[in-house]
Amino acid sequence: MNDVPFGLETKRLWLRPMAPSDADALELVLGDPTTMEFYPAPFNREQVEDWITKNLARQDEEGLSSWAVVLKATGKVVGDCGPVRRDLKGASEVEIGWHIRQDVQRKGLATEAGMAARKFCFDEKGLDRVISLIRPENLASQKVAEHLGMHVERQIKYGPKKWVHDVWAIEKKDL
Ligand SMILES: CC(C)(COP(=O)(O)OP(=O)(O)OC[C@H]1O[C@@H](n2cnc3c(N)ncnc32)[C@H](O)[C@@H]1OP(=O)(O)O)[C@@H](O)C(=O)NCCC(=O)NCCS
Repeated sequence: MNDVPFGLETKRLWLRPMAPSDADALELVLGDPTTMEFYPAPFNREQVEDWITKNLARQDEEGLSSWAVVLKATGKVVGDCGPVRRDLKGASEVEIGWHIRQDVQRKGLATEAGMAARKFCFDEKGLDRVISLIRPENLASQKVAEHLGMHVERQIKYGPKKWVHDVWAIEKKDL
């Protein structure tokens, strides 16, 4: 059950559970072929709505989900970021993921959101480790993982195409 009344604040951002009304804003992020170049394809409208529905269910079940990233300066949703539970061949892990709209990338927003998500997982949810699954070609995402103090543990084949992904991880005790 989600026992956490939810909303995180950082210097420039609010992170909050997604809402169905975020579909237009998230389509600008997840439907962008450049931003989604490391995915099998950009999300179509149905996939964006499905992503929102899944994250709302995750939030309700466990208080963990990819949250809407809201830029305080404009009040607009400019991406999503947050912890999602993954079953990796029987091992239950919590993955922090991030997507930021192309026109506001390279300003440190994914790092800012990821740090808040990491802190929440460790301090509020009592997790002792979090991971991120990143394709070796995805240099921007690797940088974010590095900023979060993560290191590569191993490689796995992951996702619908079974592409190679690095498993980046950080343990709370190593902070
Ligand atoms: C990954 C992503 C979320 C980063 O968002 P962001 O807000 O630009 O991230 P930040 O500004 O916090 O940091 C990005 C870092 O990557 C670097 N970077 C950005 N694009 C890069 C590129 N093409 N090659 C190398 N480094 C790159 C930036 O210089 C920055 O590093 P620095 O802080 O050392 O200067 C964004 O690029 C994105 O949405 N990508 C598509 C979705 C995606 O791949 N998500 C992750 C799936 S694992």
